[in-house]
Amino acid sequence: MEASLPLPELTADEAAHAARVLAYLVAGLEASGGRWPFAAFMAEALYAPGLGYYAAGARKFGASGDFITAPEVSPLFGDCLARQVAEVFGNLRADPGAPLTLVEYGAGSGALAVQLLQSLAELGELPDTYAIVEVSAELRERQAEAVATLPPALASRVCWWPGHAAAPWRGVLLANEVLDALPVERLRLGREGLEQLFVVASGAVETRLTGGAGLALDWQPALPALQEWFAGIDADLPLPLSLSLPVGTEFEACLAAGPWVQDALAHLAAGVALYIDYGLPRAQLYSPARPRGTFSAFCRHRQHEDALWHPGLQDLTAWVDFTGVAEAGLAAGAHVAGFTTQAQFLVNAGLDAAYAARLAGLEAGERNAQNSARQALRLAALAQGAQRLLMPQEMGERFKVLSLAKGYDEPLVGFARRDLTDTL
Ligand SMILES: C[S@@+](CC[C@H](N)C(=O)[O-])C[C@H]1O[C@@H](n2cnc3c(N)ncnc32)[C@H](O)[C@@H]1O
Repeated sequence: MEASLPLPELTADEAAHAARVLAYLVAGLEASGGRWPFAAFMAEALYAPGLGYYAAGARKFGASGDFITAPEVSPLFGDCLARQVAEVFGNLRADPGAPLTLVEYGAGSGALAVQLLQSLAELGELPDTYAIVEVSAELRERQAEAVATLPPALASRVCWWPGHAAAPWRGVLLANEVLDALPVERLRLGREGLEQLFVVASGAVETRLTGGAGLALDWQPALPALQEWFAGIDADLPLPLSLSLPVGTEFEACLAAGPWVQDALAHLAAGVALYIDYGLPRAQLYSPARPRGTFSAFCRHRQHEDALWHPGLQDLTAWVDFTGVAEAGLAAGAHVAGFTTQAQFLVNAGLDAAYAARLAGLEAGERNAQNSARQALRLAALAQGAQRLLMPQEMGERFKVLSLAKGYDEPLVGFARRDLTDTL
């Protein structure tokens, strides 16, 4: 990720889209009395139908997009997840009952769905249904195109649920980089107490956009719901934040995460949820080491902090409080089945075997001399992908995997070594 590159120039199409999004946001802001808590702005900037970053046509994922996620980095990610899913399915099948479902939230380009179905077919552990829950209509279309490349016996298992499960189900829930895309409130410890960031109509504070109507950021005393949230976590931490964080420290609160996790688990009768994302246990997340918090904007692989830079054209995100996700799981009747780094999870789940299998496949292909240059590139890509998934400064340590289980008590292979549950 390049922090130092200047933000890109907009094409004419992008500028026209940005102007439409801005007009929509300004109108919405005025209709809401002239100020939005940051999370309300973030929800609109990311998900407003046809306009928001995830709901319109931006490329988003991969080398030519704005950021790269693990399924786009390497198929090894899907291979390892498939091994974990297959273990759970195998155990659930031993106790015959309802069909098995794999539910993927926020399936992005559909890359992980394709990888998982292929790997699970090889492992002989296909789900009866692969249900995708996706808020973005544009991404649902892209996912359908990706799924259509699969053989009919796999593609026919995929369906899109309009929201959380409405009836009891058994199986596995996956959410890769979805929690970090839920809207957050941005907070600051002020001299007079807790402050929160609002988005206001331009002219009020620092206007980032030229030409009159626009948006600006404004710190104001926090609303009661956030005061209450802060008092709750402050009281629970071994060292209260009000004592450990210097005045001026910024941080985020994702009030949407708890209800989202609980609703998603409400009808899980037996199985496991896996949440993979960048984040930390709460006691490590809120820290003097992160004086500006973890909020970031991403555009064409540039990471920056300007939330108001052309809303609709950039991703907005913050690190996940995994303690909060675990608490929501407990409230939904689940237990924590494991918590570790992405690197450790992948190694535990058999990255070496998955790598060897893919390498053998590539080497078998290389016997055709005509293809040798292309095969050399593929071998290099396989090695680079594995490195990127594992390296601490890449995805290996920043990303964590949390598992919540309900009606399922078997140990999970992905957490067999270096389970960090006691840090939550
Ligand atoms: C950062 S992308 C990750 C995409 C994909 N999982 C991957 O790893 O490439 C976030 C995804 O979550 C989706 N999303 C955000 N909020 C959601 C929600 N409440 N329910 C389902 N999907 C959601 C977005 O539309 C997008 O597909």
